[in-house]
Amino acid sequence: MIVATLLAAVYCGRAAVPGLVPAPVSMREMPGEFVFDSGVGVFCEYHDTELADYLARRLYITAPSEIWSYGRQGKYIRLAVDKHPDLPEEGYRLLVSSDSVVVSGRDRGGLVCGIHTFLQLVPPDILPADAYFDTFTVPCVEITDYPRFPYRGFSFDVARTFTDARGVMRLLEQMAFHKLNRLHWHLTDDEGWRIELDEFPELTSKGAAYRGDTSPVRNIYGEWGRKYGGFYTKEEIREVVSYARLLNIEIIPEFDLPGHSRAIARIYPEILCRGGVDTTAAGYDMRKVWCAVKEENYDLIEKILDEICDLFPQAMIHTGGDEVPPEQWETCPDCRALMEREGIDTKGLNTLLQNRVGEMLRRRGRSQAVWNEAVDGGFLDGSAVVSAWENENAVAEAVKKGYRTIAMPSQFCYFDMKQSAGEYGLAWGGIIDTRRVYEYEPVPMGYGDDAILGVEGAFWTETLLWNGRWWMDYQLFPRLCALAERMWSPATFRDWTEFDGRLSKYHLPRLSALGIGYRGSDGIKYLPSAPGNRIKPAYTVSGSIPCTAKNPYSNASDGSDKTFARTVRTPLGGDWFEYTFDKPVECTSITVKTGYSAIPRFVVGPAVLEVSYDGENYQTVDDNFGYTGTLFPEKAVHKIRLTVKGFGNGEEAAILHDLMIER
Ligand code: ACM
Ligand code: ZN
Repeated sequence: MIVATLLAAVYCGRAAVPGLVPAPVSMREMPGEFVFDSGVGVFCEYHDTELADYLARRLYITAPSEIWSYGRQGKYIRLAVDKHPDLPEEGYRLLVSSDSVVVSGRDRGGLVCGIHTFLQLVPPDILPADAYFDTFTVPCVEITDYPRFPYRGFSFDVARTFTDARGVMRLLEQMAFHKLNRLHWHLTDDEGWRIELDEFPELTSKGAAYRGDTSPVRNIYGEWGRKYGGFYTKEEIREVVSYARLLNIEIIPEFDLPGHSRAIARIYPEILCRGGVDTTAAGYDMRKVWCAVKEENYDLIEKILDEICDLFPQAMIHTGGDEVPPEQWETCPDCRALMEREGIDTKGLNTLLQNRVGEMLRRRGRSQAVWNEAVDGGFLDGSAVVSAWENENAVAEAVKKGYRTIAMPSQFCYFDMKQSAGEYGLAWGGIIDTRRVYEYEPVPMGYGDDAILGVEGAFWTETLLWNGRWWMDYQLFPRLCALAERMWSPATFRDWTEFDGRLSKYHLPRLSALGIGYRGSDGIKYLPSAPGNRIKPAYTVSGSIPCTAKNPYSNASDGSDKTFARTVRTPLGGDWFEYTFDKPVECTSITVKTGYSAIPRFVVGPAVLEVSYDGENYQTVDDNFGYTGTLFPEKAVHKIRLTVKGFGNGEEAAILHDLMIER
């Protein structure tokens, strides 16, 4: 009650201080404001100016950051570390007064968190990468803040669908903005091996990194025929690791074994069991497992770990251990003999293998993290960290056994799950809306906060489409905002109505400003767009395929984003759709949207997107149009055309929406 009242006073009573996500431990408003102008510089009380430079860059301060000297005149932003020994690690204080902003961290991590709090206090208009402001104001405030859990993680699967280094760095920014500090980078799986290794170049050069076309891994929806994928060069990995470090994020690379190993087994089939069952005939085959007996396998793992440890200095290494298929071990004479000798079953064999791999890591001075199944079959070295994902019981079990535990039960933390019954996403973990995430309590009943190391959200990408980058934003936001509050803010801060109001009023506009898409409460995806810029000139839509009576072409030009046109059959190569303006339209951008608005299915692509300025001649805008494309016209637009390529989308229909046109 008291907390709710305090929050209401802070967030609703006075409009001056914007609501923060995650909510700080304590915040006191003070009269007045700091007026930022071009004379404001960033200073730091320590020799390393990289964080000062980072903040300066985010605020478009062009003057170089400087080392603080006492007695300075004028307005300033001052950064300090190694302050407040009374605060927990990563704690910070932020004091905004009319002539200065002081962000002081208990440690460097605390300073990074404080800087991101400050970035939430500035008007959202300041946040876009291309914004430029000479002046803005920040309300005077005093904040004392620190995290509930030391480990605030996000697990990102780049194996099933590849996201390039730039995309990962974008995610790191999003994480830091919400005070997350661990990226669990799922680099290897059945569908791909994404990390370049000097000694094993075939892993990335030969097929393991691509999906679609003739690659061993098919696309999820449709016969789109587009080959896509990729891997990170060592240079890129180092760049990502370095950027993460700047943002107080430690990367935990995952080399998933002994299951989830089809990609590596395609390149090195000799890692598989002797006489193991042939499971390839089953088609989409995930039943690949490293033989637990072959000594050569352990030599190979050592060499792979050598290179991974080199790329991720000091990091904890995740060695998987989830969903190990038992069939091959059960039929392998060597694995069977070992299990008999040790008196263990396949679960025990998984634990035994993980213990050997853990020993390799400990010899290198590294910690090992594993999925919870790896501790099902016996005792794993007590220093291991357990990522408990299967359910809340797995969290409780790992805690009870005394492991350092990450709570990430799929029923609350898996953002590949759908957010309401009618929309896209998986459902085996349940339907997970933002409120469900917000109200999740990660600490098992009967324990205190110290029982777990922290909490992790996860995004698995087997259903992420090559043309569905926006879908990742849609699945992550605002659920990740809610989980961030569970990770950071005191357990007593859990008034959903208050959070929901704070989110809509203050935080979603920040996401838009940062170019982050999100799921609105009505399920419509909001693309970042300046409010009020949309125009709706008259046009008609036609195509080579008839539409259903219920969803005619006119639905894609009626000014409503809720209605759509739907064809009576699948679009095939050569089919076309055309948008013809009544009068050529002058505008800055036109976005063509196809497929369900919340579901990347029934898209028009693969297609060629063309524009015609004169109504007769066409210019290509995008020759690999998937579900959407944006045109930035040079002059008034007369027509836009989509021509389907290849086999089409392989689904029953195509769906077209109203054009999004900005003045
Ligand atoms: C997992 O979801 N297999 C960790
Ligand atoms: Zn074997």
